[in-house]
Amino acid sequence: MKNIQVAIIVGSLRKESFNRKIAAEMIRLQPANLDLKIVEIKDLTFFSEDIENDPPPSWTDFKNEVAAADAVLFVSPEYNRTIPGVLKNAMEIGARPPKQNSWKGKPGAVVTVSPGAIGGLGANQTIRNAAVSLNIPLMPQPEAYLGQIKDKLLEDGKTVNEKTEKFLVDFLAAFEKWIDQNKQNS
Ligand SMILES: Cc1cc2nc3c(=O)[nH]c(=O)nc-3n(C[C@H](O)[C@H](O)[C@H](O)COP(=O)(O)O)c2cc1C
Repeated sequence: MKNIQVAIIVGSLRKESFNRKIAAEMIRLQPANLDLKIVEIKDLTFFSEDIENDPPPSWTDFKNEVAAADAVLFVSPEYNRTIPGVLKNAMEIGARPPKQNSWKGKPGAVVTVSPGAIGGLGANQTIRNAAVSLNIPLMPQPEAYLGQIKDKLLEDGKTVNEKTEKFLVDFLAAFEKWIDQNKQNS
């Protein structure tokens, strides 16, 4: 039975996003007890403190979806050695107002994906920094920097090769353990 809900936040809005493809592959490869689902961020308007106490429905829906999950998985590209603004915006919306932090205490993990050689290292570390403030206990190891992503996909352009599939299966198994060790008691 699938009893652990995992919210995947994809940091790219691009239609043919490699990160979205990897998120889809992680859903295909998910362990029996995990139920991975992408929570969309594309309809979120820009965060402003002025409206955080009277938020638009898109924010409330997003916060509710995150809050309903048991764990959170960030799958993101790197933009200019940090994270895309859309992902940072989603982090702020999820975290506010102060007593309504939807991320609070949810075990998390991060995967960064890039056509470049260093696999989004800067974005990966930026998400790790933010996780401290968001109060997400983020899995330290294994780290997942999926660089040169085009070489990791088969000819169909969406299925990962065997080596990457094994890496993702092992990563998800480690994440399942991490969730079990860090899940909220409430
Ligand atoms: C504004 C911008 C900045 C970028 N900066 C980086 C970067 O710092 N490091 C990197 O590896 N790739 C960078 N890229 C290339 C992205 O990794 C590439 O476009 C990737 O395909 C985006 O992820 P997606 O396929 O999931 O949309 C950048 C792309 C854009 C549009």
